[in-house]
Formats: sequence, C-alpha cells, structure tokens
Amino acid sequence: MKGLFVTFEGIDGSGKSTQISMLSEDLKKEGIPFILIREPGATPIGEKIRTILLDKANSKMHARTELLLYEAARAQIVEERIRPELEKGTVVICDRFYDSTVAYQGYARGLDLDAIGYLNRWSTDDLKPDITFLFDLPEEVAYQRRNGREGAEDRLEAEGLAFMKKVRDGYLEMAKAEKRIHCICALDEPEKIYEKVRLAVWEVLRR
Ligand SMILES: Nc1ncnc2c1ncn2[C@@H]1O[C@H](COP(=O)(O)OP(=O)(O)OP(=O)(O)O)[C@@H](O)[C@H]1O
Ligand SMILES: [Mg+2]
Repeated sequence: MKGLFVTFEGIDGSGKSTQISMLSEDLKKEGIPFILIREPGATPIGEKIRTILLDKANSKMHARTELLLYEAARAQIVEERIRPELEKGTVVICDRFYDSTVAYQGYARGLDLDAIGYLNRWSTDDLKPDITFLFDLPEEVAYQRRNGREGAEDRLEAEGLAFMKKVRDGYLEMAKAEKRIHCICALDEPEKIYEKVRLAVWEVLRR
C-alpha cells in the first residue's frame, strides 16, 4: 500500500495552518491514518536546523547557506519521517515542502532556479508530493491577517511586503507549470476553501 503525500504552500499568513487543521479533523473523523509535519523540522536534527534558520541573531546568514540548511533538513525529514510513513500507507501532510524553496530562495531571493531544482531533487532522492495546495492572496491581506496573531516576528517574517510579493508571483509561475499544484484563492471563507481541498484529496484517496 502506498500512502498519499500532500503539501501546503503559500506566503506567510495565507491560511496553510488553518486548512491543515481542517483536513486533519476530517481525516481523524474518517479514521484515515495520517501524520502532520512541518518543514523545516519534524526530526530532532531538522528542528535544530529550523532554530538556526529562524534565529534573528543569524543576520549574517548567506543566501546559499540558507538554501543548503533547508535542503539538509529536507533530506532528513524525507528519510526519517516521510518515506517510512508513505510505505505504511499513511497520509503525510506537510506544512511547506520544496516548492517553498523555489518560491523564497529562488524567485524572491534570486538564487539560481536550476540549482535549486537540482538540489530539491537531490535532497529528496526524487520524492515528489502527490498533491500540493497553493493558497494565493495579495501580500497586504496576508500581512494584515498575520498582524492579528500573537508573538514576535522571526528572521524570515521581517522581510517585508516587497519580498512577499516576489514569493507570491513565484508561486503563481510554478502553479502554471505544474499540474500537481492546485492554486486556490485564499480570499474566500475558510470553509469554502476547505471544500476544494477536500474534493481534491478525496479524489486521489478513492483511486
Ligand atoms: N480564509 C480565511 N479568511 C480570513 N482569515 C483567515 C482565513 N484563513 C486563515 N485566516 C486567519 O489568517 C491568519 C493566518 O492564517 P494561518 O495561520 O492559517 O496562515 P499560515 O499560512 O499558516 O501562516 P504562516 O505561514 O505564518 O504559518 C490566522 O489568524 C487565521 O485565523
Ligand atoms: Mg502556519
């Protein structure tokens, strides 16, 4: 039996966590085994790398260092968590995966897209998500939504709106090129967005 690998993408504050919790509730209700993980993280090594990436004290971090840290965390999460669960037939829900690297480090930071594509394939040993949801909305709206939330911003959140616009545009380019990526307007009500998520997930689960 092979599980299902579902990833959630979108700029900061686009509603990924909200939709992931709705999907989790639904899978729980239906008795479908799943795990919920986030990237970078989900393994002891990955969580340590996450701390380095988000630490505001690391303002000197070079863009290539940042890219390689993401890929290092990814190699670990794929082998330690994702592959073993997929082999058991589990639905693996991942909050961000390698499309985030293309959008943030590639389109927004300006690192070479071919190099990122190669590293993404290499770090995952060619494991691809079965379905990817991209929640699209203007960066200003996402920013306002996030301001309603508690807690100080981390190093990556402090980048500003111009950066987030580049991320958004990058994601939209990617969605145009790949059928796997379902682009959903994130301006709708959470329930309306979730209907689309559910439809797409259950369509694949039924296969
Ligand atoms: N469809 C929606 N309409 C209005 N507000 C929403 C919607 N979805 C989520 N929100 C609210 O927007 C804020 C950001 O949502 P959420 O945390 O789910 O986004 P996220 O993509 O996980 O953000 P991050 O990238 O920072 O983890 C939350 O306060 C959430 O309640
Ligand atoms: Mg979130």
